[in-house]
Amino acid sequence: MTDAVRYEREGDVALILIDNPPVNALGHAVRQGLWQAVDRFADDDARIAVILGEGKLFLGGADISEFGKTPLEPHLPDVCTHIERCPKPVVAAIHGPALGGGCEVALGAHYRLAMQGARLGFPEVHLGLIPGAGGSQRMPRLTGVGPALDMMPAGGSVSAEQALKIGLVDRVATGDVRAEGLRFAQDLLADGAGPRQTGALPCPAYDAEAFDAARALWTKKARGEVAPLVAIDAIEVATKLDYDAGVKEERRLFFSLMETPQRAGMIHAFFNDRKVSKLPELDGIAPRAVDSVGVIGGGTMGAGIATACLLAGLPVTLVERDEASADKARATIAGYLSAAVKRGKLADAAPVLARLKTVTNYAELGPVDLAIEAVFEDMGVKKDVFARLDAVMKPGAILATNTSYLDVTEIAAATSRPSDVIGLHFFSPAHVMKLLEVVVPDTTAPDVTATAFALAKRLKKTAVKAGVCDGFIGNRILATYRGAADRMILDGASPWEIDAAIKAFGLPMGPFEMGDLAGLDIGYMTRQRKAATRDPRDVVPTWADEMYHEGWLGQKTGRGYYTYADRKGTPNEAILPMIDAARGDRPQRTFTPEDIQRFYMAAMVHEAAKVVGEGIAARPLDVDVTLLYGYGFPRWRGGPLHWADSVGLPALLADIQSWAETDRYFWQPAPLLQQLVAEGRSFSDLN
Ligand code: COA
Repeated sequence: MTDAVRYEREGDVALILIDNPPVNALGHAVRQGLWQAVDRFADDDARIAVILGEGKLFLGGADISEFGKTPLEPHLPDVCTHIERCPKPVVAAIHGPALGGGCEVALGAHYRLAMQGARLGFPEVHLGLIPGAGGSQRMPRLTGVGPALDMMPAGGSVSAEQALKIGLVDRVATGDVRAEGLRFAQDLLADGAGPRQTGALPCPAYDAEAFDAARALWTKKARGEVAPLVAIDAIEVATKLDYDAGVKEERRLFFSLMETPQRAGMIHAFFNDRKVSKLPELDGIAPRAVDSVGVIGGGTMGAGIATACLLAGLPVTLVERDEASADKARATIAGYLSAAVKRGKLADAAPVLARLKTVTNYAELGPVDLAIEAVFEDMGVKKDVFARLDAVMKPGAILATNTSYLDVTEIAAATSRPSDVIGLHFFSPAHVMKLLEVVVPDTTAPDVTATAFALAKRLKKTAVKAGVCDGFIGNRILATYRGAADRMILDGASPWEIDAAIKAFGLPMGPFEMGDLAGLDIGYMTRQRKAATRDPRDVVPTWADEMYHEGWLGQKTGRGYYTYADRKGTPNEAILPMIDAARGDRPQRTFTPEDIQRFYMAAMVHEAAKVVGEGIAARPLDVDVTLLYGYGFPRWRGGPLHWADSVGLPALLADIQSWAETDRYFWQPAPLLQQLVAEGRSFSDLN
């Protein structure tokens, strides 16, 4: 037996305890230990065995850090079969999450007990995979194909109670898992229960309608992601082949996915999710306590931020300029909360709303621990707000700005306590979007940054640290790839071709659809703001200015790049003369979807390389996480810099250099990209 698996006896019952912190992943030592424990049980005089997981989880699944390495024996499917073929009964007693391979071990056992609060699920598709140790063959044999089709393509899970209902477990209990596991084992012995092999059950019935519906749903939903559809194929295999043949086919499908860039992209994203908040400079720095929050401004952003804080259990004091605006903000927040109730995300809005206080006087912010300003994006207005906050807030309180591009160092300088000032850039709608850019001027105290990361965790958001520059990480990169899209329009592509190509790449929306959704006045304002300092060589989308003057601001006015008789929109061809005028006598060319993707992505990577090179993002992974959580970049591509590594940096740089011959201004070389190519390295080397 290995250290990760212990074998104990309680009378007639053998206990097999898996202890592999932090998540009981099924690494080599656990697989080997389980195998040996089953052998020992088979050989001794115990009459029944109970498998238990120590710690928070039953079993967290295959050990992801082993993926991509040569797998060591015993392999997980063989371990599950070894358990199943044990001549004496084996029970899985599940007290916490049984995920992926962990659920497959449970399905290899002959009986399953789930404690209240346990969850059983197959999250493999989130890693670009499908169950690979018999899960897709055993689960439908127990539950029929319906529940498996609901769970596996979605990477979902079910509660203990739901698992009982669909036949995935045999009993649900409360209390101590060891005691209940022993009780279940004794009951089984009393009933004379023997080993019951799920793999020996007949094939589940094929249900053409259910498979057609699942394929139609996931073709639409997966947007280029392959694993959900392969999961459906694997479930279908269970309806056609006997268990041994089925599990072989499942394994073949599993390994075909293991080889894909999608698997690599999603595992990159998985580890980044965890690395992104691990900042060496915050090691050992305790965050300040935040038990109450102030929000200044109750517009879309302020109301969203307040909602996010309220939902996290924090009391919020929201300041507006007058009673009417305060009432409006309260109504907006109440609307967000009732929408959350309708979506089943919240049971009752009333106690959440009771934590909100709307006021018209800054003095009310005196006692709060942290205030987040979300007023109009204008330096003068922001400085005025910060001077007022400085006057009323208690010492040690944190003053945060939600600006999306302004200089946070300058805002901090408007106070007597710049070390307490930080940027917290939320994304709209702030109570839904996962990303929080934490913008850290050099003047900010480390424990203020640590507090921002702790707050993000509490709000269930993913925080990325960014340095100060126009647009920080995300909006700065966005401005560049939007610029690339405008250049392609001038060279002959239509906005609709660009949107279609970008969606085909895997983003939920193209840049022009996105513009219509956000409001085209935003882009107009940005161009106005930058007009005074704009380089004469830069391209200005004059057609977009004309659209603004026509009042075509996108969805909110029913017309933008698309016209919106319904929500989907159809191309607004009335903009073509405006575009033609902007093109003038510029030579025109046609663009294939691949041309568009190449140009757009190169612009994204190129700016990202500058953002990393200048230290605005500490590591390439910070860019990848930002684009994934704030800008709809497809998770299965890992992030733009992971994607860049996967296509090869020399080819990207060669493209950029060739475009620089005609547009040197836009394609000014990113030193970091040149350096990486010269050294034969990739972005991942810097993570
Ligand atoms: N294999 C290897 N390491 C794993 C792992 C796995 N299956 N699941 C989690 N870990 C690691 C994490 O990387 C993290 O390591 P770190 O502390 O060095 O950063 C640590 O375990 C804790 O994980 P974390 O996600 O921070 O803990 P949590 O309690 O919030 O969540 C899980 C636990 C299991 C729900 C979550 O980690 C998860 O979803 N894991 C993936 C499960 C999965 O997909 N299994 C099927 C694999 S085919």
